[in-house]
Amino acid sequence: MSKSATLSKSSTLPDVTVLPQTPQLIALFTMIRDVKTQRGDFVFYSNRIIRMMVEEGLNHLPVKELEVSTPTDLAYKGLQFEGKICGVSIMRAGEAMEQGLRDCCRSVRIGKILIQRDEETADAKLFYEKLPADIKDRYVLLLDPMLATGGSAIMAVEVLLSKGVPANRILFLNLISSPEGIETFCKSCPGVKIITGFIDEGLNEKRFVVPGLGDFGDRYYCL
Ligand code: PRP
Repeated sequence: MSKSATLSKSSTLPDVTVLPQTPQLIALFTMIRDVKTQRGDFVFYSNRIIRMMVEEGLNHLPVKELEVSTPTDLAYKGLQFEGKICGVSIMRAGEAMEQGLRDCCRSVRIGKILIQRDEETADAKLFYEKLPADIKDRYVLLLDPMLATGGSAIMAVEVLLSKGVPANRILFLNLISSPEGIETFCKSCPGVKIITGFIDEGLNEKRFVVPGLGDFGDRYYCL
C-alpha cells in the first residue's frame, strides 16, 4: 500500500468494526469519492464495496456446528448459520445496498424505513416503515451507506427496537461514517453492532461527511 493513501480512522468502540483497509478497498473508495466519477462507474464500484460489507456482516452472525458427509464417505465438521435474518434499508440511499444482500442471501426478506434528513436543519424525519411481520425473531442487517450525524440510523434503530428486535440482533452496515456519527450512534444504541467501510475526517457546516463522497443517493440514482 502506498504510504500516502489516506486510510480510515480507527475506533476503539467495542461494537464498531472497520473493514480491513486493503489496497482493493481503498482503490474502490477512491473511485466513488472522485467528483469526476460518472453515475455508471459510481454504481458499479459502490456495488463492489457493498458486496464486501455484506460479506463482512455475515461473519458477525452466530453459527452452530454442522457435520456433513463428503462424497469420499468421510465426515467434515463444519458450520451453519443459526437463526433467521432479514435486511432493512433506510430509503432512499440504503436501497442501493439491497441487491448486495440478495446476492449473498437467497430470497432474503427486506423491510424498508423511509427517513429523510431535513435539508436545512439535517434533522432526521420518519415518513414510512414496512417491515417483515416476524422481524423480532430475526437478525436484522440495517442498510444505509452514509452515517453523518447519526440521526437517521438512530431513528431507524428506534423503529426496530419498538418492533421488539433486541439491540444485539441488529447489525448496521454503512460505507462511510463520521467519527461524530459513530460516537453518537454507539451512545444512543448500545449493543447494536456497526460495520463501516471507512471512518472519515468529520462533518462540514452542512453536516455532510468530509471528505466523503457527496450525497450518495443523488450520485447512485440521479446524477
Ligand atoms: C443521507 C444518507 C443517510 C443520512 C445520513 O440520506 O443516505 O440516510 O443522510 O445522515 P445522518 O447520519 O446525519 O442522519 P438523505 O436523508 O439525504 O436521503 P437519501 O437517502 O434520499 O439521499
